Amino acid sequence: MLEPTINAQRLLDDLEALAQFTEPDTPGWTRRFPSDAYRRARQWLRARMETAGLATQLDNAGNLFGRRDGAANMPPIHAGSHTDTVMGGGRYDGTLGVLGALEAARAIADAGIRLRHPLVVADHLSEEATDYAIACLGSLAMCTGHFRPEWLARQVNGVTLRQAMLDMGAHPEELGQPLVKPGEIAAFLELHIEQGPVLEARGATLAAVSGIVGIRRALVELAGKANHAGATPMDLRHDALAAAARIIVAVEEIARAHPGAVGAVGKLDLRPNQGNVIPAQVTLMAEMRSLDMAALDAMWADLLQLAQEASAARGVTLHFHNETRLDSVTPPRWLHELVLAVCRRHDPKALAIPSGAGHDASHLALVTPAAMIFVPSVGGRSHAPEEYTDPADLARGVHALADAIVAIDRA
Ligand code: GLV
Ligand code: MN
Ligand code: MN
Repeated sequence: MLEPTINAQRLLDDLEALAQFTEPDTPGWTRRFPSDAYRRARQWLRARMETAGLATQLDNAGNLFGRRDGAANMPPIHAGSHTDTVMGGGRYDGTLGVLGALEAARAIADAGIRLRHPLVVADHLSEEATDYAIACLGSLAMCTGHFRPEWLARQVNGVTLRQAMLDMGAHPEELGQPLVKPGEIAAFLELHIEQGPVLEARGATLAAVSGIVGIRRALVELAGKANHAGATPMDLRHDALAAAARIIVAVEEIARAHPGAVGAVGKLDLRPNQGNVIPAQVTLMAEMRSLDMAALDAMWADLLQLAQEASAARGVTLHFHNETRLDSVTPPRWLHELVLAVCRRHDPKALAIPSGAGHDASHLALVTPAAMIFVPSVGGRSHAPEEYTDPADLARGVHALADAIVAIDRA
């Protein structure tokens, strides 16, 4: 039986080449939606796909696909991830899944393997949470009916989401209904760095992901009243930041009270931000995550209630909006077992572990059997410039991905 052989140097060269597309005057390797660096990176990627003999196409959501036809009339196997980053991100989050899928496609062809299914390398638009307060934008629009036309008017730095998506080659006016139906994709595989410490701590180099957390995230706007911080008595002030502080602590307390759950406020804007002025306006982004959806919904309801109490007690107006609601997913048993068996062929110590990060696979799972493979993150670091994975581990992950694609094709 023919087996794919990974060209590790070609993979590393591609990762390094993509990492060069970063935004000027930003920390780490920053490539945010809808920056020029992101647009140029995807043009480069499209050319790399075409050099590999893949036929490229953008869908209405701005997802980039590179496809090689299969020998039979079957739905395609998709493999991919994303190429945008967080502010101050690293070189591997998302890019490994896309460039790893590209290397897998080349390795399969180089080995003379003709898949029965078409193989599609996918780069989903804007996976990371944006200031438009939407995460996994491309896969959401592709796989769910949750895309709302009214989002298109949202502005960040004077740029509407409509314009941002048009600039990335999407056709946002066409969105609303899912772009794919169940059955139209045979399976989806996403290779990713773990972004946590478990693989390293357990001395394993691969994991089959057993589930992906659900996420609830919202923009919270608190409107109080600016006034003299010295001359205004405590019972007559409307301090938006004091209400926000209560909310921030509540996110932490509620998450701590639910084993396995997490929560954070990662973004905070404060006006007028003066040492002797009572804070009038606060915008924050709060999120909570859990694999247990009943627990997550209860946590979110607790937070909402506490936010209402904290703002009412201070005469501060509360506005909770632009919610992200991503439910937890688990791969179908057959696919999880197939991926775990492939991982164990490459590393007998391979684990089955859940993902605390959100991924495009969460949306793909709504329309197709979806599974993920993790490789270790040194020091458990991610969403930071220090993000690093040993080259041998990167190559092993891509080899496992290629083998999993072939195994699904032959199943
Ligand atoms: C994506 O990286 C997320 O988990 O927020
Ligand atoms: Mn990320
Ligand atoms: Mn990612």
